[in-house]
Amino acid sequence: MFVFWSFALLLIDAAKGEEICYERVGCYTDDIPWSGTPERPIKRLPWSPERINTRFLLYTKNNPNNFQEITAVEPETIDYSNFNASKITRFITHGFVDQGEENWLSDMCKRMFEVEDVNCICIDWKKGSRCPYTQAANNIRVVGAEVGYFINTLEARYGYSPSMVHFIGHSLGAHAAAEMGNRVPGIGRITALDPAQPYFQGTPPIVRLDKNDAAFVDVIHTDSAPTIPYLGFGMSQAVGHLDFYPNGGEYMPGCKKNIISQIVDIDGIWEGTRDFVACNHLRSYKYYSDSILYPDGFLGYPCAGHNLFETGTCFPCPQGGCPKMGHYADEFKNKISSGFQKLYLNTGEAKVFARWRYKISVTLSGKSSVRGYINIALYGTGGNTRQYQIFQGKLKPDETYSNLTDVELDVGTVTMVKFLWNNNMINPTLPKLGAAKVAVQDGENGNVFNLCGSGTVREDVLQTLTPC
Ligand SMILES: *[C@@H]1O[C@H](CO)[C@@H](O)[C@H](O)[C@H]1NC(C)=O
Ligand SMILES: *[C@@H]1O[C@H](CO)[C@@H](O)[C@H](O)[C@H]1NC(C)=O
Repeated sequence: MFVFWSFALLLIDAAKGEEICYERVGCYTDDIPWSGTPERPIKRLPWSPERINTRFLLYTKNNPNNFQEITAVEPETIDYSNFNASKITRFITHGFVDQGEENWLSDMCKRMFEVEDVNCICIDWKKGSRCPYTQAANNIRVVGAEVGYFINTLEARYGYSPSMVHFIGHSLGAHAAAEMGNRVPGIGRITALDPAQPYFQGTPPIVRLDKNDAAFVDVIHTDSAPTIPYLGFGMSQAVGHLDFYPNGGEYMPGCKKNIISQIVDIDGIWEGTRDFVACNHLRSYKYYSDSILYPDGFLGYPCAGHNLFETGTCFPCPQGGCPKMGHYADEFKNKISSGFQKLYLNTGEAKVFARWRYKISVTLSGKSSVRGYINIALYGTGGNTRQYQIFQGKLKPDETYSNLTDVELDVGTVTMVKFLWNNNMINPTLPKLGAAKVAVQDGENGNVFNLCGSGTVREDVLQTLTPC
């Protein structure tokens, strides 16, 4: 009994944390669950709003290149800006060590202006993000409160409905949504771009982003390997209405390149060094940005796991279609079921990251088996693809070889297929093989195109197949 009571007292003592209050944005404690838990061992209180200096940088179609800085503390700055209260507003927030003037945020706004007319507000909280991680992870609460205050001001001043707000947050920025969502009911949408894992994964919903923070919450996971020992920075836990795991959500293609090849990338040296340390983590916003211009190039296939997705169990898209990862994910919001939905897709390894998934089945013709591989290129109303390897191994006449392939464009109606085989060595018997039939199934709608070929060809000689 004595042991029990002293243990309980110890807990109460630990739970009685400090509290700090700020004008306008309220009080914050370091009590459980904010600190003193296995997930959040180090106690920190958020810095003051003045020290974090959350800034709101407005871009519109009328000022796509130069922001107007607006603030809810002096709301006349909003009156005099290009902010238009009859349009929806998308907020974009950076994460740890990053800053709101980084090109990726304003570039995302510019891409939006190519397809829609919105208020695009980049949130800069660099003064609160360039500090030890444990501090930044608490500062994000004040950032969320500031966004909440901003939205409340819009509502009071213009009758602006929170349902017209879309909050896009990367990394730690995604968790600002927790404080914002707790303060402003009825936010339209939150998109979390690889929400940060340390100090958030496994914590109660009040601490982190969760699906009750907005009417619709979509999440892109790109760096969700465990932080220890793999240094994964993003959450693996599903926390939205739709959770997308591109390439399985842990390791992104193209992220193994050395620093030199990153520097020659169009984004330059700074982007190169950023990529070197956090390539997987940064992919989330790059995919989102590409999705604005390639709506159907990021279809998420509902599936119980990435392995099942890779083996074709979850192909093609179900009757109701596949949700789109990224900008257009909310087109699916009226079709979401209860519970968490996990979605899988593959991307390219450099931009443009969009990919379209096809199942390609090749039935061979010929006289005898030979070792080698099969390549296929698709031609259609949407363009033609490069050659993709479908199979490698023993090639037997009359056998059918199938493979799921993520190609670089939407082929549309398949009008022609080119077949090529090779065994990479000089074979004095000069064997010949052909493709008697190729069936191409489009993942988006399940449509199958059948193409037929006649005869056989030597290795490295292209055979053309046309609709049967
Ligand atoms: C705001 O947007 C609406 C709808 O697009 C438009 O009719 C109106 O003229 C805009 N207001 C201003 C001040 O530009
Ligand atoms: C599909 O082709 C790729 C590339 O050759 C190969 O790695 C993969 O194993 C193939 N999948 C199947 C199911 O044969």
